[in-house]
Parts: sequence; structure tokens; C-alpha cells
Amino acid sequence: KEQLERVEQFTADSKEAVEQFRIEFLGSKGTIKDLFTKFREVPAEQKKAFGQAINELKQKASDKLAQLKDQVEDSGQDQKLINDLTRPGNPIKVGSRHPISIVKNQMIDVFSRIGFNISEGPEIEDDWHNFTALNLPEHHPARDMQDTFFIQTDPDILLRTHTSSVQVRYMENNQPPIRTISPGRVFRNEAISARSHCIFHQVEGLYIDKGVSFADMKQTLLYFTEQMFGKSKIRLRPSYFPFTEPSAEIDIYWGLETETDYRITKGTGWLEIGGCGMVDPAVLTNCKIDPEEYSGFAFGMGVERIAMLLYQIGDIRMFFENDVRFLKQFSNAI
Ligand code: PHE
Repeated sequence: KEQLERVEQFTADSKEAVEQFRIEFLGSKGTIKDLFTKFREVPAEQKKAFGQAINELKQKASDKLAQLKDQVEDSGQDQKLINDLTRPGNPIKVGSRHPISIVKNQMIDVFSRIGFNISEGPEIEDDWHNFTALNLPEHHPARDMQDTFFIQTDPDILLRTHTSSVQVRYMENNQPPIRTISPGRVFRNEAISARSHCIFHQVEGLYIDKGVSFADMKQTLLYFTEQMFGKSKIRLRPSYFPFTEPSAEIDIYWGLETETDYRITKGTGWLEIGGCGMVDPAVLTNCKIDPEEYSGFAFGMGVERIAMLLYQIGDIRMFFENDVRFLKQFSNAI
């Protein structure tokens, strides 16, 4: 009994101590061996109880030995790790850039290389900069082309529906030559679906100088698509915008004849990526630029649309849900 208690209470903090325990209890001259020797002298009627007691002690001592060995080994390991100053720290989860930022920055880079600067303006706009200056006076039917979020208490204040408003501000404050792009977030009161959202991003461009022509615009847009998508074919399809004349939709050919085939999983053909046109002289006049002296072109493109093409994303809503399983797929992009 007494020995059992000693076994149970034994602690060891080193290999040597464990070895000592082994020698004391289980060694060839140890306590248990002694007890077995005494066993022979025990009177017959006590033999059974005594035998059982020794066996129990032997079992406990072996278990304890195994346990002590484990303990000493573990703590030795821990100690080694703690002392190893070169071991790596705890990994920190690194975020990734949002695909819209990646593509927007790429678009900015492409235009910067041909001399466009970046202009920015407020997301909450007034009627003049978003509409009136752009040849969209009050009650103009084309205002309905862009469903607008108005501030309830003041119909003059709204969420910009395009970044053309930034270009108005830029023209008001700068004389030609002007080469500027306006990236930014815009808002339209539209039903949310896989193809459209009430919030999205645009990069609009403006180029004003002496003798700027439609051909200059087409070449600039072709340069852009080739930088973004590789060898491209584009088409300017006649359209209407109040602030440009003539106006066109920019379509890119998305199909087997281009070298971008590897990006295509399904569907080929012409796909619209934005609008463009020669700046209407009335807009220049509104912004204090003389249309007799200067001409220019403007264009606007949706960043989401271009990102969807580049990355084969089928649903615009994914950009706004911030599901990490979606976002972390872009962690390798710059
Ligand atoms: N502002 C237009 C839009 O948001 C795009 C555009 C810009 C069209 C410039 C022509 C010229 O729909």
C-alpha cells in the first residue's frame, strides 16, 4: 500500500529522474523484486492477497514509467521549440486585391502609357454636372436612359450615374489639350440581376485638342483593347448619347478569330464594352471651351463588364458579395 502511494506520487522532470524511478521500482534490485522474494516467506493464507498486491504495484509502476517517459520527452520537445529562435512565426492571413481594383488599375495603366492623366470627382453630384452640362437639360427624354437615385429632399442632388460628371468638372477647370480618364463608382436605380447592378464602376475618357478626329478615337480604343485582351477586333456601332455626336457603342469580337481564344469558354461574337463619340459642341460651350477651335472624343466603359470577360465571371453580383472563396482566387494577381 505504502509503495503504491509512492508510485502514484512520483514526478520526474528529466530523463535521469525517470531512470531512477525505473531502477528503484522495476530494476533487478528494485522494490518489486524484493517483494517477490518476500512473497516466498509469506504464510499460505496471506499469499493470495499479497500476490495480488504485488502484481497491482508492478502494473502501476510500469504504467507510470511509460507516462513519465512521455512527459519528459514532450516537455523536452517544447523546450527545444521555444529556444529555437529561427522557427517560423504564426502565419498571418494576407488579403488579396479585389478583382475590380485589379482591372481598374490595369485600365489606368494602359491609358497612362499614352498620356492620359487621372481625374476624380464626387459620387454625390448636382444636376448640372451629371446632366445639364452634358446636353441633357431638364425634361430631356434621354435622362431616362440612366435611372437615377435622387436625394429625396433636393432634386438637384443625386448619385452620379456616370463619371462623365467628372469630365465636366475637369473641362471647367482646365483648357485643352486635355487627356484624362475618370475611374469611379457610379449608381443607377436598376433591378439587380446576373447582368446588371445598381452600383458599378466606370472608366471614362476625354481627349480634347485641335483637330482631333473620329479615327483618333478608334485607334485609341483599339490600342486599349489590344493591351487588355491581346490582338483584338473592335466595331463601332452607331448609337445615340446626348453628349456626343456622332455616337457609337464599342463592341469587341469575342471569338475564334482572335488570339484570346483561351479565355473563351462559351459564346462567341460581338460584345458591347462601352460607349463613345465626338464631344458635342454644346457640351464644350457649356464647359467654356471654344468648339470652333477645339474638338475631342469621349468614351466610357464598365469595369465589371471587362473584368467579367477577362476572368470569365458569369454573374456581376459576385463582385459585391465579398465571398472570400471568390476573392481569394485573385490573390496571385497584382
Ligand atoms: N456616359 C456614358 C454612359 O455612362 C458612356 C459614354 C461616355 C458614352 C462618353 C459616350 C461618350 O453610359
